[in-house]
Parts: sequence; structure tokens; C-alpha cells
Amino acid sequence: MSTHGKPYASSCDENREPILAVIRPLFASARHLLEIGSGTGQHAVFFAAAMPHLTWQTSDVAEHLPGIRAWLEEAALPNLPLPLTLDVNDDWPVGPFDAVFSANTAHIMSAADVAVLFRGVGEVLAPGGHFAQYGPFNEGGRYTSDSNRRFDAALKSRDPRMGLRDLDDLRTLAARHNLTLTDNHAMPVNNRTLVWQRGGAGASLAGG
Ligand SMILES: C[S@@+](CC[C@H](N)C(=O)[O-])C[C@H]1O[C@@H](n2cnc3c(N)ncnc32)[C@H](O)[C@@H]1O
Repeated sequence: MSTHGKPYASSCDENREPILAVIRPLFASARHLLEIGSGTGQHAVFFAAAMPHLTWQTSDVAEHLPGIRAWLEEAALPNLPLPLTLDVNDDWPVGPFDAVFSANTAHIMSAADVAVLFRGVGEVLAPGGHFAQYGPFNEGGRYTSDSNRRFDAALKSRDPRMGLRDLDDLRTLAARHNLTLTDNHAMPVNNRTLVWQRGGAGASLAGG
């Protein structure tokens, strides 16, 4: 969907306040955040306006960049630099970032891409930094709702590589890259916000 020439996702308007309630305290002392799979750019504009202490670096695969740029140009916020082209399989920006955010990407990416996502986050995230990951997830090998089961079937009929990821598999992937699940927030419409923290030197100082 598009509004005034800009791409538009109604879901962003619906989930942005509940997500902000989770990430505002989480990122209270963060300064440089990398967003992966920014999509339309709507989340970036809303979150950057609400957290002016944070430089919110958007990114996505090349085809999404013009739309993100349109939202950023209209917002004209000093903490929204131009978007980066980032396919998780290609070169990542040079870190460290002290926070990472990604919404609704793990079920769109293939399982292999999700593994690469965690490897990349483990590399660019500063020790003690948090990675907030929003979306629908399975838990203990099970769907958490009928709507998520239907959503998964719809995704797989669109592309068999897509699909909801299981929290246990994500934990295993994350552990390989020194990332630990520190929170798992229930969100509206059977979504979650997973909070991963990078271990290592300084983790206990920057954590919390
Ligand atoms: C459903 S959209 C979510 C967009 C936005 N974050 C939101 O919540 O509205 C999934 C996003 O993941 C991005 N994506 C898919 N595969 C990717 C990859 N390999 N590397 C980086 N981003 C990817 C897509 O380009 C798209 O912007």
C-alpha cells in the first residue's frame, strides 16, 4: 500500500505504541541503533521522534530504500541518517552499534538468512548491547495461536522458505554468537518482542 507516494503498512500504526513501550526503557542509554529490514521506514520515523537521544540507522535490501528515504525526508529528523543497503547475506556496516532492532523479519527471511542475521548482530552489537526482535514466533515447537498457524501456512504458500521461527532454534543460534535471551514480552495479536543481550566485556555495566 502507498500513501502520498510513500509506502505504507497499517500494521506499523497498530504496533508502534506497544513496541515503543518495550524499547524506550530498553534503549534509554543507547546512542547508535541499527534497524534491520526497516520496510517502509514508518517505525524508524516514529521511534526516532520518540527517542531523540538515539541515532536510528535504518537499513533494508535495495528495493526498499527509496520508500524509506521518502519517509525520512518528510520527517527531517536530525537522528535519522540516510538508510543503508543491507541484505544480511552481504556486507554489514561497521559497528559497533549499542542497540539493534528488527521487526517482522525472521518469518520473511529463510531459516539460513535468520542464522546469518544472528551472526551479523553478534558481530556489530557492542558488548552489553540489546537486540530487540519483534514478530510472531513459535514456542516449544508449537504455534501460540490459531491466527499464527494460519499466518504460517499463508507465508509458506507464498514462499516455502518463509515461516514462523521457533524460539528454541533462535536461542541456539543466538548462543553461537554470544547473545542471550533476557526478555520475552507478550505483545498484542500474538506477537512477541524478544530481547537478546550480547555478552562479553562490559556486559554487566551496560546491561539491565
Ligand atoms: C514484513 S517486512 C517488515 C518491515 C518492517 N520492519 C515492519 O515491521 O513493517 C520484512 C522486511 O524484511 C526485509 N528482509 C527480507 N529479507 C532480508 C534480508 N536477507 N536482509 C535484510 N532484510 C531482509 C524485507 O526487505 C522487508 O523490509
